[in-house]
Amino acid sequence: MDNSVKASKAVASEIASLIKVKELQGDPCVLGLATGSSPIKVYDELVRMHKEEGLSFKNVYTFNLDEYYPMQPDALQSYVRFMKEYLFDHIDIPKENIHIPDGTLKQEDVYAFCQKYEQRLEELGGLDLQILGIGRTGHIGFNEPGSSVNSRTRMITLDSITRIDAASDFFGEEYVPRKAITMGVGTIMKANRIILMAWGEGKANIIKRTVEGPVTYETPASFLQNHPNTTFVIDDAAGAELT
Ligand code: F6R
Repeated sequence: MDNSVKASKAVASEIASLIKVKELQGDPCVLGLATGSSPIKVYDELVRMHKEEGLSFKNVYTFNLDEYYPMQPDALQSYVRFMKEYLFDHIDIPKENIHIPDGTLKQEDVYAFCQKYEQRLEELGGLDLQILGIGRTGHIGFNEPGSSVNSRTRMITLDSITRIDAASDFFGEEYVPRKAITMGVGTIMKANRIILMAWGEGKANIIKRTVEGPVTYETPASFLQNHPNTTFVIDDAAGAELT
């Protein structure tokens, strides 16, 4: 068992405990979810807990961080498809409890959609727990450098480094969408609890800048230094540059 498997199991078990506590309290459990490689083992473990231990997601509401724009839900690179494949198709979450930014909208409808996304989140009492990965640019969600600490769900332009990192998924950088819809830094910062995961040496430099560097919009993840209940769960390789 390598580091990231053990760590992901610990994250999954925190999520499972929260789901159970919320159910006992009769409150909805509102989770903010990420896609990408970082949370996959957490989702594997949650699926296992559902199948083998009866962990139920009937009381869970989810809000995904982001989606490419434009993007069809059944496309290979779609985050809707990703979430179904790794989590939603294997658990008992009611379909209507799932929220993912819609990459099929007409441009003129995006603003209203984003407002509604925020509103729905607020109606449910906000995020109990937000799962994050981190991009090499320091993005959380798709909040690229330049994103303000108060930013909310909106359409953004992807950084060129992010598009290079996504190139293999799209079979060439020129096919990576230039835009995405993302929850804002401000949306994320309102979560009661945040867990950011990073694995591998490719994340070592950005983890150092995020944790030990200045709090700045040039490294949006650095805003997490000011969040009262955030944990970075990383492996040795991702932590290699920390002093
Ligand atoms: C994905 C997301 C992104 C990723 C980040 C790291 O929903 O919001 O911020 O978490 O790009 O991606 P991976 O985990 O593939 O290294």
